[in-house]
Amino acid sequence: MVEPPIIALEHIFFSYTEQTPLFADICFAFNRDDKIGFFGPNGKGKTTLFRLIVGLIKPEKGQVLFRGVPVHTENQWRELRCAVGFVLQNADDQLFCPTVLDDVAFGPLNLGLAPDEAKKRALETLKTLGLEGLENRLTHTLSGGEKKLVSLASVMSMRPDALLLDEPTNGLDPEAKARLVAILKNLPTARITISHDWDFLMEISHSFMTINNGKLIDVDSDFFMRPPHIY
Ligand SMILES: Nc1ncnc2c1ncn2[C@@H]1O[C@H](COP(=O)(O)OP(=O)(O)OP(=O)(O)O)[C@@H](O)[C@H]1O
Ligand SMILES: [Mg+2]
Repeated sequence: MVEPPIIALEHIFFSYTEQTPLFADICFAFNRDDKIGFFGPNGKGKTTLFRLIVGLIKPEKGQVLFRGVPVHTENQWRELRCAVGFVLQNADDQLFCPTVLDDVAFGPLNLGLAPDEAKKRALETLKTLGLEGLENRLTHTLSGGEKKLVSLASVMSMRPDALLLDEPTNGLDPEAKARLVAILKNLPTARITISHDWDFLMEISHSFMTINNGKLIDVDSDFFMRPPHIY
């Protein structure tokens, strides 16, 4: 039997205001092995698409399917959000605990792991991301780049089946960015990565998409070799 996509969007229509419809009849499938680079000009709706996928906002028309099943109830949305980790564009929106360890252990605790296990998971994840030593820091005293990496750790510690990464390299220095590239290249987890950094996207993605006229369109990697026509 063919495995259903992790996420499918069926005929999604959405706008924040009546004057500016953002999405008109979007259909999209996000599969287990996908590593999608997602780019496009500011304000076109990239972040909004992620918010629709995890149910933070609801479409006017159309539906979101999780593993082939339409998502309706809050329990279903919760299940989806445990499996699909959303790393937010602004790390300050993601981190809300006093210390780094609390923030990174929060997800595993929420998944039902015992406190010791959750702490172990959090420490392992911080180590994987080269963040060992930060665990006892007060989150609000971290630098912007450190916060960005800790917010990634807070999602990866839940070991999600899929990742939605919203501009993960913003504010990272070249060394931290190179570390992130190495981690993502080795990470089998399905992902959609939003970025304006094409070199980064090329390195970590297998396919590409953008938004045009309220629709998602696939773009081949040759696009990046030609002068851009949508920017
Ligand atoms: N809560 C909201 N209420 C009204 N309009 C909104 C809201 N959130 C976003 N918008 C508008 O919707 C459009 C899409 O926003 P979105 O954040 O999805 O863009 P984006 O493609 O992620 O842009 P960027 O590259 O700047 O992050 C923008 O014009 C934005 O101003
Ligand atoms: Mg955005």
